[in-house]
Amino acid sequence: MKLLIPGPVELDSEVLLAMAKPVMGHRTPDFEEILAECWRLLKYVYQTRNDVAIITGSGTSAMEAAVASVIKEGDEVVSITGGKFGERLGEIAAAFGAKVRKVEVEWGRTFAIEEVEKAIAESNATAITLTHNETSTGVVHDARAVGRLAREYDLLFIADCITSVGGDEVKTDEWGIDLCITGSQKCLAAPPGLGFVAVSERAWEAIESNAEKRAYYLDLAKYRKSLAKRTTPFTPSVTLIYGLHAALKKIEEETLEARIRRHHTLAEATRKAAEAMNLELFAERRCASNTVTAIKIPPGLSDDDVRGALKREHGILVAGGQAQLKGRIFRIGHMGNVRFGDLAQVLSALELVLQKAGHELEPGAGVAAAEEVFSREG
Ligand SMILES: Cc1ncc(COP(=O)(O)O)c(C=O)c1O
Repeated sequence: MKLLIPGPVELDSEVLLAMAKPVMGHRTPDFEEILAECWRLLKYVYQTRNDVAIITGSGTSAMEAAVASVIKEGDEVVSITGGKFGERLGEIAAAFGAKVRKVEVEWGRTFAIEEVEKAIAESNATAITLTHNETSTGVVHDARAVGRLAREYDLLFIADCITSVGGDEVKTDEWGIDLCITGSQKCLAAPPGLGFVAVSERAWEAIESNAEKRAYYLDLAKYRKSLAKRTTPFTPSVTLIYGLHAALKKIEEETLEARIRRHHTLAEATRKAAEAMNLELFAERRCASNTVTAIKIPPGLSDDDVRGALKREHGILVAGGQAQLKGRIFRIGHMGNVRFGDLAQVLSALELVLQKAGHELEPGAGVAAAEEVFSREG
């Protein structure tokens, strides 16, 4: 099955082969060398000088580690929502005893910064949360603007950058992200099962002074202690670390700059192709994601007419809508190792299934529009 979902993504053969190596002892110089390389390369993709905790668990475990390590019972947290994952970060904060003040954002749009500032000014918040790239709606939010407010009001800035680090611009230090979260199976094109948090000095101070620890495995203080000894606090998934290492080396080879440019070109090509096929984009153009594109299912057509047919007839998996968007949109993930050929394949199959289901379009128009973007930018 060809994967064009917003994670997990298809893995490079070098990554797969790296994971076939025999398991090493995790407290050995050879393994510590691989870990050290992973940390160096993670700092590169995060554009940070901060330490990065490597957690065995999916992205949500890293979200939970970030929140549980800095939030105390009764703390106020401003949480910008606007999608399933933005809401999840607020839910985790509430689960750890925070009083969450939501800044509600209409799904498919981005926030008004004045509303965020108003929420901060009216609260006694100690932290603010944002999902940088909201995968459920295909929206990328302005994390830099939130970072500026976080500094001005002395808040810890917790950002879920799970579908942006390694695919879109994430300037962890420059934007002032104190706890910057990502996951392995998205833009990094590594196997699923690892979560990461880049932690600023300010955040380490908050973590060290948090006497009310309610996490054990996910207590970031433990990760800091081990980082100083070039190791992890618990047995890491040795095999996944091999895969991560190979995936990060591929990013370095491509260069982060070229990789981000490739993702931007893929996103623009997908948007232009969708419009050429008489399809409507779900997210507003000015805040459309560069790693996943959400497209409305045309009136009269069902999810099965589009996604079901793509899967059955062409062996291609794209993602459906989540929560209230179930059956209303489908999402093409163009992150990780996706190249023009992969996109052309899904677009051309999409034209066939749409035509078959009675949607009017000019055959070949979608692929041609994507090709035009690539010949201009690629
Ligand atoms: C923006 C965002 N945050 C969080 C998650 C949750 O990550 P995981 O499924 O790895 O726990 C996802 C997964 O799709 C995501 O896209």
